[in-house]
Amino acid sequence: MADSPLVPHHIAIVMDGNGRWATRRFLPRLAGHKQGVDSLRRCARACVQRGVAVLTVFAFSSENWNRPADEVSGLMELLAMALAREVPQLKKDGVRLYFVGERAGLSQKVRDGLAQAEAATAENTRLVLNVCFNYGGRWDIAQAAASLAARGEPITEASLQGAMGMAHVPDPDLVIRTGGEMRISNFLLWQAAYSEFFFSDRLWPDFDESALDEAIAAFGGRERRFGKTSEQILSAHPQPMPG
Ligand code: IPE
Ligand code: IPE
Ligand code: MG
Repeated sequence: MADSPLVPHHIAIVMDGNGRWATRRFLPRLAGHKQGVDSLRRCARACVQRGVAVLTVFAFSSENWNRPADEVSGLMELLAMALAREVPQLKKDGVRLYFVGERAGLSQKVRDGLAQAEAATAENTRLVLNVCFNYGGRWDIAQAAASLAARGEPITEASLQGAMGMAHVPDPDLVIRTGGEMRISNFLLWQAAYSEFFFSDRLWPDFDESALDEAIAAFGGRERRFGKTSEQILSAHPQPMPG
């Protein structure tokens, strides 16, 4: 199944709905974020089993700083706690962690945690897990342009792509957003140019293996044309005749 065109090589997910999951249970929003970490662990395992090579998740946006201060500090603490708890198992499971986003805005403690987690899993090859944290698609495009300008390099599509935070992986094949909203919220603005989109009404803590399989099945039924006509695609990859 690993090389099947029916299974996306790279899945990216806007993990939305943690707050509502908690509020519906009369719990503090942070309880939803904690449950969201469990959901991510389950999702990463399921991706490995299904032959997905790259999983990218949106964990904290450039705009999430505008939330109440106690939620923001709770999320920072949760990140540090989750790293301490999960990294040993991720290391055993063959998961290579990358953090994508603006590190300058994070505390030294969080930055150290991210660097240690990346170093601890740097030899792993089963699944690349990109965690977008303090990330915004606009930030990424702007910082890539600024770094090219600072080096006096020409700005082209290829040079920008290479200077962006996701340069180490191909573009996502499938972008999933949970939680029912149908918007991009500043995620992967550049890289999602030709991604297939799947919107799920499930809240992120409720997004289980069956929900993932539903998204993958929908992806398998899409015709990706990349600007070409349907006839061109079909003549390059003829469909088997039924029966
Ligand atoms: C997504 O869940 C996680 C973060 C943005 C950190 P939310 O916290 O946005 O959950 P809802 O959308 O309020 O339910
Ligand atoms: C997007 O969710 C960011 C993350 C999942 C980390 P938000 O909940 O912040 O998005 P909006 O504000 O509803 O667009
Ligand atoms: Mg939300």
